[in-house]
Amino acid sequence: MRAYDIILNKRSGQELTGEEIKFLIDGYMSGAVPDYQMAAVAMAVFFRGMTSRETADLTMAIVDSGERVDLSRISGRKVDKHSTGGVGDKTTLVVGPLVAAAGAPVAKMSGRGLGHTGGTIDKLESIPGFNTALDKETFIEQVNRIKIAIGGQTGNLAPADKKLYALRDVTATVDSIPLIASSVMSKKIAAGADAIVLDVKTGSGAFMKTVDEAVTLARAMVEIGSKVGRQTVALITDMDQPLGRTVGNALEVIEAVECLRGQGPSDLRELCLELGSYMVCLAGQADSAGQARDILVEILDNGQGLAKFKELLENQGGDSRILDDTSILPAARKTIAVTAQADGFVTAIQAEKIGVAAMTLGAGRETKDSVIDLAVGIKLNKKVGEQVTKGEPLAALYVNDEDKGTIAAQTVLDAYSIRPLQPETRKLVLGLVTSEGVTIY
Ligand code: URA
Repeated sequence: MRAYDIILNKRSGQELTGEEIKFLIDGYMSGAVPDYQMAAVAMAVFFRGMTSRETADLTMAIVDSGERVDLSRISGRKVDKHSTGGVGDKTTLVVGPLVAAAGAPVAKMSGRGLGHTGGTIDKLESIPGFNTALDKETFIEQVNRIKIAIGGQTGNLAPADKKLYALRDVTATVDSIPLIASSVMSKKIAAGADAIVLDVKTGSGAFMKTVDEAVTLARAMVEIGSKVGRQTVALITDMDQPLGRTVGNALEVIEAVECLRGQGPSDLRELCLELGSYMVCLAGQADSAGQARDILVEILDNGQGLAKFKELLENQGGDSRILDDTSILPAARKTIAVTAQADGFVTAIQAEKIGVAAMTLGAGRETKDSVIDLAVGIKLNKKVGEQVTKGEPLAALYVNDEDKGTIAAQTVLDAYSIRPLQPETRKLVLGLVTSEGVTIY
């Protein structure tokens, strides 16, 4: 077998065999297939696409490039959740405790944020004492005992994805559906999931700008799941504005706690209930998503979700006093108000710009080695559909560096569109993709 012939085959639109795909990935990891040939493969896939069989083979070749987490000692069906990247997305902090309180094991390995999107591990690390570096034994024992553990990714999971992603990043081949789908699914499968709930975002803050694109990506991932024996369900959800009202690590923890108290923004509550329902259902703790939702609403409203979060904090060294006294969390020195320049209605808030502004303040990483500031961030006083008058605060910036604050304030202002007419309400959950088909709401 020669990489040259495989590139030629893909370039001319042929379907690659599983052996050819494995040859490429193994060769790429050993160095036998150099970057320039792999870049040509990625570009050929970008233009020619892949069948669902090829995409599943690529996924498993990537999984086989590294270790797999063995969660078999955790009793029950382990359902993982993945979001394709959002701004203000603190759902794991809410969904994890809710689903665990419903009896489904939550063995969550989360990542750090990069670019304009945040990461669950960074958010949790804003809680004084919270330990995200659990060893394998502690992690497994904790999930068996209290149904939930959240740790940082350990082990050499899907190393071919890291290498290939870096290559795609510099060869303009990131936004290829089979390459994104195999990249996401390989990491979930390597992390030991029995079943997977995906939150595929669409809108200004997402990779997939339209619902059609998001559905295509979701279908590709659901098909991989079916082909490799991991039941997968995808929700298509709106990321045309940030989720909830806060962006920034400690600020998002506060909002997640409010949500667990049955308060907080309605979009956050709704998304958590939807994602959680499918997780509970796939874990076999309910017969339908509707029944699972009823269970979760009760758990949220009777405080069991908050109690589970407290238990999570206590078990991982986090200071659970934050639940009653948020002043224990890192706090920024100063706030800057961003005010409306006109009367009208907020018709759009470009999520990506808000994410970039939060990153400018220090809440996110420009490069993977950047040091982040857990205290800083943005609180959105106004969201899409709300009325504003000139001079009213649209958002508050929590800053530690005034120069960065000035730059971020302009970006936040640019992110808002204010028009005379109230926009139509946009749905939060736009569709559902399962192995049975696609439903658009
Ligand atoms: N997120 C991933 O994990 N992989 C991609 O290819 C794109 C987004």
